[in-house]
Amino acid sequence: MKNKNIYKLRRQKLMNAMENGVAILKGAPEQTRSHDTPYPYRQDSDFYYLTGYAEPGAACIIDPNNKENPFTLFVLPQDPKNEVWTGWRLTFAETMDQHGADQAIDIAEYDTYILKAMKSASKVYTNLNHEREHQHKILDQLRQVRSEVQRSGGGPEGLESIGSIVHDMRLIKDNHEIALMQKAADISADAHIKAMEACQTGMYEYQLQAVMESHFVYKGGSGPAYISIVGSGDNATVLHYIKNRDILKDGDLVLIDAAAEYDLYAADITRTFPVNGKFSEAQKAMYEVVLSAQKAVIEAAKPGVTFQELHDLDLRLLVEGMVEIGLLEGSPEEIIESESYFKYFMHKTGHWLGLDVHDMGKYMLDSKSRVLEPGMVFTVEPGIYVNSKSGAPEKFCGIGIRIEDNILITETGNRNLTEAAPKEISEIEALMAND
Ligand code: GLY
Ligand code: MN
Ligand code: MN
Repeated sequence: MKNKNIYKLRRQKLMNAMENGVAILKGAPEQTRSHDTPYPYRQDSDFYYLTGYAEPGAACIIDPNNKENPFTLFVLPQDPKNEVWTGWRLTFAETMDQHGADQAIDIAEYDTYILKAMKSASKVYTNLNHEREHQHKILDQLRQVRSEVQRSGGGPEGLESIGSIVHDMRLIKDNHEIALMQKAADISADAHIKAMEACQTGMYEYQLQAVMESHFVYKGGSGPAYISIVGSGDNATVLHYIKNRDILKDGDLVLIDAAAEYDLYAADITRTFPVNGKFSEAQKAMYEVVLSAQKAVIEAAKPGVTFQELHDLDLRLLVEGMVEIGLLEGSPEEIIESESYFKYFMHKTGHWLGLDVHDMGKYMLDSKSRVLEPGMVFTVEPGIYVNSKSGAPEKFCGIGIRIEDNILITETGNRNLTEAAPKEISEIEALMAND
């Protein structure tokens, strides 16, 4: 059973921040995959964060002006004919009990309640990220309420994304979330070990994908947190390569960027290793550049440091390393100034991580890079990508390397949630030699 108090606490924080505003939120819609077959259902992240309710067909109103029933959850009613196909639904009483709702009501009545809640609100907050129909409904109702109460000077003055409050709340993870993220991280780290152990020349990229993803599910995850990337050779230089159809060749590296979702929380791990279990000299040289930059950035991540400072450090170390191994020529300062590194390193050092793999929360505050605080979780994922058409020295062509870990900022520094996934050359070679 869910810990309903966690969600209640979050709603209380939201209500304090909304003052006299009301939150009118819709759960994620079901999506058709083909004909009459849906995609596996996944709840909207903000909705889940505030309610813990993961079933389809729901909506909710969080209304600080409604003293008796501040939290109303609208759900699909009992429907024996349909439940034969999709499973039993909770009764309204069970929904109230299990999800801490002050009232649980048939979703068919949602519209009437929206109107009522809007009348006494100063502002309406809703989720703006999906379902245009719902947004139109909210706007129409807002217009209607405003026209009805205009002469008394009332009615909500505006519409705002719930994200303007909730995304900053989501940025600082509570202990409940950290435990779930650690679980997602552990399953994912284990899967990377399994893929390294299973890897053989002549296998296919999708077979490593299968090893990873079957482990995610076997361990109780809902599956991959994002589409798994398994790219060998030149494919590893394509940032979001998701075809995963090629054969694994002797002498190539393979890059796996794949991780599990657990109770809607994402991990996001990348490891890069040799198909045949042994790094070549050129691969080793490039790998060491990425690894030492990654370790230095993790070392530097602590409260008070900005996200941009971590990126600047990463970039400087990668560029210095690329000059040292002969991949770039010139002074690191000039290379950074002219951005000529960009053909080999073309993304940011990391991103927030949580319910969404590219999680919500601002990266800038008052035009300044955000300062890290305890409870923030983000990725550190430097890479160097040298495709075969890049014109780089031949020995580096067809090598793509990224190493990605998930870092939780603590009071005194950080905790690497994904440190169980091996990344030292010696560890990887030893693991892969054990067959
Ligand atoms: N897996 C997507 C990313 O690393 O951002
Ligand atoms: Mn990432
Ligand atoms: Mn990733």
